[in-house]
Amino acid sequence: MFIDVTNCDTTTTLLGLPSSSPFFIAPAALAKLGHPGGEVNLTKAAGKAGLIQAMSNNASQSIEELANGRVTPNQKLWFQLYVTTDRKKTERVLKRVVDSGAFSALFITVDAPILGKREADERLKAEVMPVLSETSGQGEVKSGSGAKSVTKALAVGVAADLVWEEIAYFKRLTGMPVVIKGIMTAEDAILAMKYGCEGIYLSNHGGRQLDTSPPAMLTLLELRKHCPEVFEKMEVFLDGGVRRGTDVIKALCLGCKAVGMGRPFLYANACYGEEGVSKAIESSCSFLKVLTTLVMQEEIETCMRLLGVTSLSQLGPEYVLSVQSALTL
Ligand SMILES: Cc1cc2nc3c(=O)[nH]c(=O)nc-3n(C[C@H](O)[C@H](O)[C@H](O)COP(=O)(O)O)c2cc1C
Repeated sequence: MFIDVTNCDTTTTLLGLPSSSPFFIAPAALAKLGHPGGEVNLTKAAGKAGLIQAMSNNASQSIEELANGRVTPNQKLWFQLYVTTDRKKTERVLKRVVDSGAFSALFITVDAPILGKREADERLKAEVMPVLSETSGQGEVKSGSGAKSVTKALAVGVAADLVWEEIAYFKRLTGMPVVIKGIMTAEDAILAMKYGCEGIYLSNHGGRQLDTSPPAMLTLLELRKHCPEVFEKMEVFLDGGVRRGTDVIKALCLGCKAVGMGRPFLYANACYGEEGVSKAIESSCSFLKVLTTLVMQEEIETCMRLLGVTSLSQLGPEYVLSVQSALTL
């Protein structure tokens, strides 16, 4: 209290990229299921808002479409990779990622070597395979592939044999910082550090993979307790149920560099029809900016001001924990 909070700065740097706020668009497959503009809507909105988008390996549009959808050539994206059993195929995808010049970091998702039990998907039995671009990622999925659900179809070819020792090979292939998405324990966070990753991304895949896996915020507390050194050596991200500016700030207070949001952006994209999207994208205030980015931005700033902080570097555990619990973490 008694702190001048007139100005409040939410800017940060994530894996060397400037970001207007400490959150980013988490990689989520098949945005075209929600809106024909697909992932490119998100690319444009992110570019206008100065935020970073992580493109899914299972996007409904191609690497090149997203690269061309950027608002300026300086806008950089992150690429989320599902390594395939056929590593040559992964190499081809990564070559396109590098050649596009649009990506600055590689996020390897490791919490889905096989598909979790997704009952809702199975019940749906949707015939929507054609929205998956031939060139996006797995790309070889077609209607009538025999798969019983969309996600099962997408999971065809994903490597179940991926091991830590391969990280060096992905770093060599891309020359990019590597972040491991899907870390759920302190032990794995330590291994990621040991294998030279630039970041870790705590996530339980939005609760869509392993039943009863911990929410990322709990994993974050585990890391603080058992391996606080990881926060010095790597950038730590998380996602899963982040819906409020206060959620973002809590994660940052506990050591995260930024948080991802998946479904809020998918819903924002799906809720506005093509007309609304075009109109909004033409104006300087895109629909996503209004619906999600601005809402989040305002909430983040409000939370910071009410805590009495004016820059992200001032955040710390003392803002979310009682003295007693802070001492035990
Ligand atoms: C429809 C949908 C598709 C997703 N597709 C991917 C994907 O292709 N790759 C990936 O690493 N994570 C994927 N995820 C997981 C998200 O990246 C994220 O971990 C999760 O949605 C949690 O964030 P949220 O609660 O903000 O949605 C997907 C999630 C959803 C809901």
